[in-house]
Amino acid sequence: MIRRQRIGILTAGGDCPGLNAAIRGVAKTAIVRHGMEVFGISDGFLGLINKEYVELTEKSLSGILTLGGTILGTSRVKPFKKKANGDSAISKPELIKEHYDQMGLDCLVCIGGNGTQKTAYRLAQEGLNVVGIPKTIDNDVFGTEMTFGFDSAVNIATEAIDRLHSTANSHKRIIVIEVMGHNAGWIALYAGLAGGGDVILIPELEMNIDSVNRYLEERACKNKDYSIVVVAEGVSPKRKKKSAAEYIAKMISERTGLETRETVLGYVQRGGTPSPMDRILATRYGAAAVELIANNDYGKMVTLRSDNIVPVPLEEIAGKLKVVTEDHPLVMKARGMGTCFGTDGSIRENKD
Ligand code: F6P
Repeated sequence: MIRRQRIGILTAGGDCPGLNAAIRGVAKTAIVRHGMEVFGISDGFLGLINKEYVELTEKSLSGILTLGGTILGTSRVKPFKKKANGDSAISKPELIKEHYDQMGLDCLVCIGGNGTQKTAYRLAQEGLNVVGIPKTIDNDVFGTEMTFGFDSAVNIATEAIDRLHSTANSHKRIIVIEVMGHNAGWIALYAGLAGGGDVILIPELEMNIDSVNRYLEERACKNKDYSIVVVAEGVSPKRKKKSAAEYIAKMISERTGLETRETVLGYVQRGGTPSPMDRILATRYGAAAVELIANNDYGKMVTLRSDNIVPVPLEEIAGKLKVVTEDHPLVMKARGMGTCFGTDGSIRENKD
């Protein structure tokens, strides 16, 4: 009797639409194409620490493709973080290795963003077989053109911006909308462009509020009755308690006298059913991850490059961030059409 390969899957970090599509892509490919056994681990790495898991079957996968969130649950537990281990007799990584062996796993599929892939890499260095799948609405995972979750978030944010145009127009107001993205400006850039934002502010490009206000005042003088300002959450001034949107709206209204309102889109960008493109990308990533496992090809993350799924060693990914650059084609095109990025040409050094 040939022993069936046994895969563990976990979802870690912020949730996003498409996680269940990725779980389904891994598990169905493993079960149907390769006759493998698949176990879903609860709540990210916490489930490995507590040895909480369930076997995934074709029955348990039925109907999850279109479901938002993750049927496995997630957490932001970082097993290698010093404080996570405190003075416990056995470290969290040791416990993970012990439970990985007790579960008889041949490989661990880690679905997550930057932090998750960094932990996956460190577990690989500890001797576990791991394969990473890049997930996050932020789209800031290094080495891949796109993470799943991003397209859904851009769709949600764009629809919100479309709606804000009508109310801004009716009241002849400046509306500032804040989108997520952590320390990157990808959602703001894509949704700002798709939604016809007049001003797009992202953490990668040093923002000068006076140049924003000059731009808005010039628009007002040309009888442009309203303006839409799209700001990434990472623009918020670290030293202030205010959100980016509150801070920018305050600076605009106080210094120009233009009537201004703000909206923080928040967690709606992470909720609900995945877009069709995210369903497809998540499924492609899941199926490709299983092919690596079937070939005992570990220590890699599947990436999207020119519409091909390409495995890349985790050591090339771990700890790096993919951020928007000043010369990004979308930034250049938007500037050429008169979109304001609030810069006086300077650019913030990428600290990560
Ligand atoms: O990483 C996804 C994300 O939504 C970021 O855009 C955001 O800054 C962060 O998660 C919020 O973290 P939490 O879900 O822990 O509040």
